[in-house]
Amino acid sequence: MPSPSPTDPLTHERVHGLTVAEAGRVLATPAAYADEGLLHAALALLRREAPVHYVQADGYNPFWAVTRHDDVQAVERDHTLWLNAPRPVLRSAALDAALQERRAQGKALASLVHLDEPEHRPLRAIAADWFRPKAMRALQDRVRELARRHVDLMAEHGSTCDFARQIAAPYPLYAILALLGLPESDYPLMLRLTQQLFGHDDRDKGSPAAGTPGAHMGALEELFAYFHDLTAARRARPTGDLASCVAGARIDGRLLDDTTIASYYILIATAGHDTTSSTVAGGLEALIRHPDQLGLLRRDPGLLPTAVEEMIRWVSPVTSFMRTARADTHVRGVPIAAGESVLLSYPSANRDEDVFDEPFRFDVARDPNRHLAFGTGVHYCLGAALARMEVAALFAELLPRLESVELDGEPAWTATTFVGGLKRLPIRYRLT
Ligand code: HEM
Repeated sequence: MPSPSPTDPLTHERVHGLTVAEAGRVLATPAAYADEGLLHAALALLRREAPVHYVQADGYNPFWAVTRHDDVQAVERDHTLWLNAPRPVLRSAALDAALQERRAQGKALASLVHLDEPEHRPLRAIAADWFRPKAMRALQDRVRELARRHVDLMAEHGSTCDFARQIAAPYPLYAILALLGLPESDYPLMLRLTQQLFGHDDRDKGSPAAGTPGAHMGALEELFAYFHDLTAARRARPTGDLASCVAGARIDGRLLDDTTIASYYILIATAGHDTTSSTVAGGLEALIRHPDQLGLLRRDPGLLPTAVEEMIRWVSPVTSFMRTARADTHVRGVPIAAGESVLLSYPSANRDEDVFDEPFRFDVARDPNRHLAFGTGVHYCLGAALARMEVAALFAELLPRLESVELDGEPAWTATTFVGGLKRLPIRYRLT
C-alpha cells in the first residue's frame, strides 16, 4: 500500500485521532507547523467541526481560530471593526508581555502590520509606488540576474545541495535588499537577523537561545541599531533607493520618527524574505513530489504564472495574522466580544473544500485560484507582485536547466507559529 501523503487530511485525522480542542491547540504549537500532516489534519477538522473555535493553550493568551476561507476574507475586509494594532500576530504570552513592555517604553515596532486607520494608509502610501508594476519592471532584470546567479550556485555545488538553506534562503533577501539599496556586504548580516526574528521558535534557526523572547528581542535590537544608522546616512546623502525614500518621507510635513522608520525597513526586509524563500523551496518540493506536474510545467512553460500561484497557495508560508474586535460581533454566528482576538489561518483558508476543487491536489494549471496567502483588504501584501516575480524568475531559470531532481534525504520544516516553511530541502540533481 502506498504510504499516506503528508497532505492527505483524512488519513492524518485517523492517524492523529485529534479532538477539536486538541486541533485548536495545534495552532498554538510551533512544532506542529513543522509537521504538515498534523497541521492539515487539525485544520481540516476545525474547518469541518468548529470553524470559529476558542483556543486556550498553555503559554498563549486565548484566541478564536478562524479556519474557513469566507470567514478569513470577511474579517480582513472589515478593517473598521477588526483591528491589527493590539495583537497582529500570534506570539507566546511571554513574548506578548515583553512586546507590551517595549510598547510602554515607546520602543515597539510600529510598522504597517501594527497599525490601523488613519495612521496605516499614509504610511503604506510612502513605499507603495516602489511595489507597483512599473517599479517591478525596472527591477526585473536585477531579479533575473539574481535568479541566474542562484541557479549557477546550484551548479557550483555539484549534484547535491540543501536547496532551502543554500539557494532559497539567500535569493529573495538579496532581491529585497537590492530594492532597499543596502550594500551587498551587509546581506549575510541581514540573513542571520531576519531568520532569527522569524524563526525564533525554532532552535535550528537564529541563536542558541531560540524559542525565548530574548532571541527575538536580541534580533530586534540589532536590526533597530542597524537601521537607525542607515536612516542617518540616507538623510545626509540620499541614494535614490527605497531606503532613501523612507528616510526622507514626510507625513503632515514631518519626517518619520526613528522607531517608525526602523520598523518600516524591518518589515520590508523581513516580510519580503522568509515568505518568498519558503515558497521557492516548497514549490520545488511540491514539483519533486508530483513528477507529473513537473513534467507538465517543463513541457509547457506558459503554465508558469498559474504554477507560481499554486505554489503560493500550496505553501501558504504565512501561517496566520490576527485581528482584534473593536466591538461585540459575530463570525459565522459565533459571538465574539470586544477586545477578543481572532487568528486567521491562511493555510486552512487555502485548503477550504468549499472554494477549491480537490484542495489537496497540487495542480500547476489550477485556474481560478482564489487563495488568500497574501491576505486581502487594506493590509493586502504590499510585496505580492515582487514575490510573484521572484518565484517565477527562479523557476524560469531553473526548469530549462534541470535534467533531473529528487529528494536526497528528509526535508524539515521550521517550528514557528508565524512565517513557516521548509528549512531543509536536501536534493540530488543534474543541471545542464
Ligand atoms: C503583508 C504574505 C512576500 C511585504 C502580508 C500579509 C500576508 C503576506 C498574508 C498580511 C496581509 C493581511 O493582513 O491581509 C506574503 C507572502 C509572500 C509575501 C505569502 C510571498 C510568497 C512579500 C514581499 C514583500 C512583502 C516579497 C516585500 C517587501 C509585505 C508588507 C506587508 C505584507 C510590507 C504589510 C502590508 C500592510 O500591512 O499594509 N504579506 N508576503 N511581502 N507583506 Fe507580504
